[in-house]
Amino acid sequence: MMKAAVHTTYGPPEVLKVTEVEKPQHKDREILVKIEFATVTSGDVRLRGSDFPPLFWLPARLIFGLFRPKKQILGHELSGTVEAIGSQVTKFQVGDAVLGTTTMLRSGSHAQYVCLPETWKQGVVLHKPKELSFKEAAALPVGGMTALFLLKKAGLKKGMDVLVYGASGSVGSYALQIAKAYGAQVTTVSSGANFDMLQSLGADTMLDYKKEDYTKKDRTYDIVFDAVGKTSKSKAKKVLKPGGAFVSITSITAEKREQLQEVVNLTVSGKIKPFIDKKFPLDAIVAAHTYVETGRKRGNVVITMAN
Ligand SMILES: NC(=O)c1ccc[n+]([C@@H]2O[C@H](COP(=O)([O-])OP(=O)(O)OC[C@H]3O[C@@H](n4cnc5c(N)ncnc54)[C@H](OP(=O)(O)O)[C@@H]3O)[C@@H](O)[C@H]2O)c1
Repeated sequence: MMKAAVHTTYGPPEVLKVTEVEKPQHKDREILVKIEFATVTSGDVRLRGSDFPPLFWLPARLIFGLFRPKKQILGHELSGTVEAIGSQVTKFQVGDAVLGTTTMLRSGSHAQYVCLPETWKQGVVLHKPKELSFKEAAALPVGGMTALFLLKKAGLKKGMDVLVYGASGSVGSYALQIAKAYGAQVTTVSSGANFDMLQSLGADTMLDYKKEDYTKKDRTYDIVFDAVGKTSKSKAKKVLKPGGAFVSITSITAEKREQLQEVVNLTVSGKIKPFIDKKFPLDAIVAAHTYVETGRKRGNVVITMAN
């Protein structure tokens, strides 16, 4: 048996119950991972509450469970140690430290154990370098890969002017740091309360959305990156240079092994640092969801499986 946060109905954070469930059994091509850390993302909160935009509500419910959630253990990312491997696994050994995602798998990372395929189309699992702590590693995959995917789609290059709208969230804090690592000049949009955080992550210019409108400043950008889904292409066009690109987290992204490896490499070389806002034990999963649901989290919220 193992401990897990389970939700059998959609609803507020209180639908999550920490309980004992069957420990998963790995298949031939799977590894069994003893989880050290996971995160609560805004995606977990949306899935638990069935909080989908009206147009996507029905398609989303058909995918994630029409009457009750199909994936009853949430959690999209994790770090941990391989406890057992299937007979056809070649890339991992018992004892390896790993980080990865649970995208489109039957069960998530808000549990003591999870089974991950060695490779699968939608998600990624990689070896965790020793330079990276388990806590930091768990907070890298989703935000890091999403930021890198969208910046590459926008054609990020050295010397570009990049504006990150909503830079204080998980995706935004990685987008800022990855753009800086590539040699871009980065302007961030956040509330003034997060200026200290963004300065520490390398922002060149910071705008407070409560006091000024980024489209009315006398400045243009090669890339406008909407990291919280709260600006739009029509607004961004006002400040895009000719040939400039607008990208948003509302678009479909894909997880790629090479991209997580690049994010890991940038972290090991000290060019990016996962920003950890708060840490909760698994037993406090309701409090963690309640906090993330405020929409005010800074960077990442991690869950520890240790008591
Ligand atoms: N497409 C994908 O593959 C993908 C992957 C991951 C995430 N996502 C989506 O990306 C979005 C962001 O997720 P996240 O976890 O990175 O961040 P998040 O936790 O949703 O964002 C929280 C941050 O947003 C800031 N914020 C709130 N309202 C704002 C506004 N009007 N203008 C600027 N900043 C504002 C808050 O700062 P203040 O307190 O200063 O306002 C807070 O720091 C979510 O909708 C998530 O579902 C998409």
